[in-house]
Amino acid sequence: MITLGIESSCDETGIALYQMGKGLLAHALHTQIPLHQEYGGVVPELASRDHVQRMIPLIRRVLQDAGITLQQVNAIAYTQGPGLGGALLVGASVANALAFALDLPTIAIHHLEGHLLSPLLSDPAPEFPFVALLVSGGHTQLMRVDGVGEYQLLGETLDDAAGEAFDKSAKLLGLGYPGGPALAALAKLGRPNQYKLPRPMLRSGDFDFSFSGLKTAVLTAVKNSDNAPQTKADIAYAAQEAIIDVLAHKARAALAHTSLTQLVVAGGVGANTLLRERLTRDIEQRGGRVFYPDLAFCTDNGAMIAFAGALRLAKQQGDKNYQFNVKARWNLAELQH
Ligand code: KG4
Ligand code: ZN
Repeated sequence: MITLGIESSCDETGIALYQMGKGLLAHALHTQIPLHQEYGGVVPELASRDHVQRMIPLIRRVLQDAGITLQQVNAIAYTQGPGLGGALLVGASVANALAFALDLPTIAIHHLEGHLLSPLLSDPAPEFPFVALLVSGGHTQLMRVDGVGEYQLLGETLDDAAGEAFDKSAKLLGLGYPGGPALAALAKLGRPNQYKLPRPMLRSGDFDFSFSGLKTAVLTAVKNSDNAPQTKADIAYAAQEAIIDVLAHKARAALAHTSLTQLVVAGGVGANTLLRERLTRDIEQRGGRVFYPDLAFCTDNGAMIAFAGALRLAKQQGDKNYQFNVKARWNLAELQH
């Protein structure tokens, strides 16, 4: 069974083909980063229009790369939400139109489920059950994962997501979009112990997060600084440290609480090298193991949607009614098994 996966929830058009038993056949990604860069963030209308232009050529390309025809595809999975409404509609429309024309089932996928399951695409892959730390631009959650569709929320951010904390701190430091990688790069030039920034809710005893106070602290530090390049690097260093400290501390606590040993890290912030190093060190010291998606599948991509679709299809979860809607907001905990 071959599943075509379509991701268009934000500023990346991701297309992939996944075959059960064989693995990923091909994947392609078009990023809109240069398109939005001059605006300092994603412009939803431009995002939708770009998805419209890129989607069909990318589908053609993955079919060609995999050496198959559209007629060999057995099902079409697409991101139904959460994300930008217009952008999601492009993927949903293409998926349903194609599936209708080819008489194939469609599978509507939750974007975060895609991220959550993406480490299973890697070798070695984790085995259920595991704890997942989901750190994307819009979400920061710790989940207990017992199987496909069996997700129990342990804790989440009460305000900004970790990715937002990276992005907003980067903006305050005058760095471009997307802020996460830019802040991480600047932090490499920073010195330790120059700035002490808060670690919100570090000792709250639960698995929730709060990052909005950090943003305010970064703002104050920037305002009171001499704006010299070294100072900015020192602030970036401290901001990254603060975010990583909280994430690592809570992830460790969630493993201890669930008595599980495997941690899976997914979502764009999972591409952060320092976060990876810190988590691996902390958790392996305690006899646990950390799994990450390949770097290409950390940020948004089509492979995770094709893969989640294939797993759902194996649970008989596709349908042919082609009455689609998209969900700009959608809580993962509401997802049916
Ligand atoms: O998962 P993702 O690609 O999109 C969403 O579903 O939101 O995550 C994007 C987020 C952005 O906030 C971006 O700044 C952050 O991931 N990010 C990083 C790094 N690469 C991407 N944050 C820190 N360090 C990175 N290397
Ligand atoms: Zn994402």
